[in-house]
Amino acid sequence: MSDSYQPKILGFLCNWCCYTAADSAGVGRYQYPPNLRVIRMMCTGRLDPSFPLEGLATGADAIFVGGCHPGECHYIDGNYHALVSASLVHEALDRLGVNRERFLIDWASAAEGPNFVKIITAFTKRVAALGPLGSSEGLDQAALRTRLAEAAEAVRGRKIRTGLINASREMMKGGDFSRKTVAGLVAEKCEKALNELFV
Ligand code: FES
Repeated sequence: MSDSYQPKILGFLCNWCCYTAADSAGVGRYQYPPNLRVIRMMCTGRLDPSFPLEGLATGADAIFVGGCHPGECHYIDGNYHALVSASLVHEALDRLGVNRERFLIDWASAAEGPNFVKIITAFTKRVAALGPLGSSEGLDQAALRTRLAEAAEAVRGRKIRTGLINASREMMKGGDFSRKTVAGLVAEKCEKALNELFV
């Protein structure tokens, strides 16, 4: 990929942590790539799995979700539920043939401006190496964006919602918030609905 290629990255940042970290990085004059376009949300728990898919469908090359560290969510467990939504997004990307490296969820506290810079710099590099959406996938970009838009609509359906609620419930009950465990729960609870959506 040419050095002049600049990926478009859409970021969903929690108001209390990552957004403030980004702000403090700016105030502290830390340099980081200007590729991130930010949507501020009160908590990553507000993340709907359709948002990242829609972001990719409408022009982004990659999506970043940034929240408070596990155990530090201002709404107690919003970021754990965001992990559930994120796992569904990864499942959907896999099934669409989109490189899952284009979607990242990570954490930075309000005091961690330098950590935020490190995360975004590394993610931008990673996405730049992949090239524009569709290129590393070997897929036609326009066709892929259409499929992503359809997927965004589809994951708003009742069956997926029910699967996500069940996965969240089980995660909270088990108290294991590791990404591997959460991904396993989402795959298990949403498998049937995903199979129907992505044939
Ligand atoms: Fe930051 Fe919930 S308030 S992730």
